[in-house]
Amino acid sequence: MKKKIVFSGIQPTGLLTLGNYIGALKQWKKLQKKYFCIYCIADLHSLTIHQKKNILNKNILDVLAMCLACGINPEKSIIFIQSHVPQHSQLNWILNCFTNFGEIKRMTQFKEKIFLNKNINVGLFNYPILMAADILLYQTNKVPVGKDQIQHIELARDIAYRFNKIYGNIFTIPEKILNYNGSCIMSLINPNKKMSKSDTNNNNIISLFDNDSIIKQKIKNAVTDSNYPPIIKYDFKNKPGISNLLVILSNITEFSIEKLEKDFQNKNYNSFKESIVINLCLFLNKLRKKYFFYRKNEKYLKSIITNGAEKAKKYANITLKKVYNVIGLDI
Ligand code: TRP
Repeated sequence: MKKKIVFSGIQPTGLLTLGNYIGALKQWKKLQKKYFCIYCIADLHSLTIHQKKNILNKNILDVLAMCLACGINPEKSIIFIQSHVPQHSQLNWILNCFTNFGEIKRMTQFKEKIFLNKNINVGLFNYPILMAADILLYQTNKVPVGKDQIQHIELARDIAYRFNKIYGNIFTIPEKILNYNGSCIMSLINPNKKMSKSDTNNNNIISLFDNDSIIKQKIKNAVTDSNYPPIIKYDFKNKPGISNLLVILSNITEFSIEKLEKDFQNKNYNSFKESIVINLCLFLNKLRKKYFFYRKNEKYLKSIITNGAEKAKKYANITLKKVYNVIGLDI
């Protein structure tokens, strides 16, 4: 039987965090066992914030090397850079013409971003439609995403339905995959908000590049609660700090939350945190070793970029041709 298709994307902006690893890259690796996976470094999306040339170049290679270090296998899956496959922009324009102003105006991420950004460009507005093009070009069945992207997947589905209703079954209707617990790793100091690499308070995030002593410091400062006696139990509503730390430890050690709850039954928060520090340092040191191995070898990275674009184009072109044909553009 033909494998179902998974598609996802990551923006090449800044240093990746533990949230990116647990919420995206770790899951991307796993999905390769069951699906044909296509992963995209979404450099066009990152232009909604103005980027400096050298930094963007470097960030793209950094993210690619981290994807490889996290176990994305370019022999099995396709990993490519969005701007190298022009079909994304081509389909984007067509989908623009099948998207209503009203539905795009309602996107909550856009509404949030216009509060934060000084540079409110049309790209920011168009962002979810480019994302729909990314997904629909590959006849994607499943899209692993974090909670903040659910609305964008719904939009991609709506656009696909609308298009199919007029032109026949051109696009596969994609479904989201949410990570069971770690789809959102929360901030360390404010566990009610997502751990985000653009956070201005560095104590909220664990970068994949934080060294042992910084990790120790940050975990020590992570918010818990003042329950007495201390209890290490997953209960996000009442114990967001402890729950977030449990999710982190579970994802790093691969022990289930239930097992960890049992192991730490009569322990205090300090020994729980100590265990997190030990495991996290071990894990990140190992990951970084792999990362630097790939990052140093730019020739290899560039060959993956060239191959990835070539393979992605083949699939993208099949869909784009169908679209051109049914619309009447292929004379
Ligand atoms: N917008 C996504 C993010 O910032 C990245 C992305 C781009 C993406 N294209 C995609 C995710 C297609 C899933 C599918 O996280």
